[in-house]
Amino acid sequence: MSFTHIGLLCSGGDSPGMNCAIRAVVRTAIYNGIKVTGIKRGYAGLLRGEFMPMNLSSVGNIIQRGGTILQTSRCPEWMKKEFRAKAVDIMKHQGIEALIIIGGDGSFNGAKALWDEHHFPVVGIPGTIDNDISGTEYTIGFDTAVQTAIEAIDRIRDTAHSHARTFLVEVMGRNSSAIALKVGVCTGAENILLPHDKVNHQKLSDDIQRGMARGKDSSIIVVAEGPTAGRSYDIQHVLKDMFHLDAHVAILGHIQRGGSPTANDRFIASQMGNMAVQSLIDNKFPTVTVVRSGKVLMAPLTECIMKADHNFLEFQKLAETLSI
Ligand code: F6P
Repeated sequence: MSFTHIGLLCSGGDSPGMNCAIRAVVRTAIYNGIKVTGIKRGYAGLLRGEFMPMNLSSVGNIIQRGGTILQTSRCPEWMKKEFRAKAVDIMKHQGIEALIIIGGDGSFNGAKALWDEHHFPVVGIPGTIDNDISGTEYTIGFDTAVQTAIEAIDRIRDTAHSHARTFLVEVMGRNSSAIALKVGVCTGAENILLPHDKVNHQKLSDDIQRGMARGKDSSIIVVAEGPTAGRSYDIQHVLKDMFHLDAHVAILGHIQRGGSPTANDRFIASQMGNMAVQSLIDNKFPTVTVVRSGKVLMAPLTECIMKADHNFLEFQKLAETLSI
């Protein structure tokens, strides 16, 4: 099967570098004589027929921009079979023969349903700051989000030091440990609390007091947000009530999702966008662009539809050793 017209959408939370992937998809497709239609606001926009014809200049001057020019959404309707069937009709009517989806595991599950139910050709590109998709070591946006959080914590450290304060800094990532661990190691955090950790307040308090006893007057504790943001406030209250320790809370929130992508994100997204189109040209689908052993490759979609909290035991050990 050789494709003449493909669709492209972003789905789920935006991440820095999505625009680089969009640019690479559009330019690679046009280079190979394939027409690209951008679909606005993810699966929800597809169901509403929100199409945007793409040409070389529609992706000009976007490589440095955060967010996604196609916009994105989370789409509860997509869980229902009848809406997916409607989407296939809409795409066929539009002349779209295959779909590239930039998003996370939920978006890939949605893509898998299109393939399973309608044999509609799909290729995924992993885009989420959480770096939590099975089958790939990397998802677009992670590096930028980590860098943003590091810059924020470096600033907080200035105040922590000046006022001899303890800060609980909450980072995004939902159930994924990836952002918290990397940010914690890179900012020299005194403690890192992972999403599934049952917080040991006694140990936390002992660590803070031990630091003080050896002359440290400030501490940074990186807290992974876990399923619901705001968990740092509970920890703050326990530290105060049980151990008479004052800690300030800083929740970094969506600041981590925006901003100009790092070189790493731009480079990987450019390779992934290019490879996603090549995969359709080579009739390799349903697939996902992945990073394995540091290399960008294609993998079967079925390997990339789960959430993964990659096992970072060695980083945990590193953080513990260096924060003694
Ligand atoms: O999945 C990306 C992410 O930023 C998570 O880290 C965070 O928990 C969630 O999305 C926030 O989602 P929303 O932007 O819909 O509030």
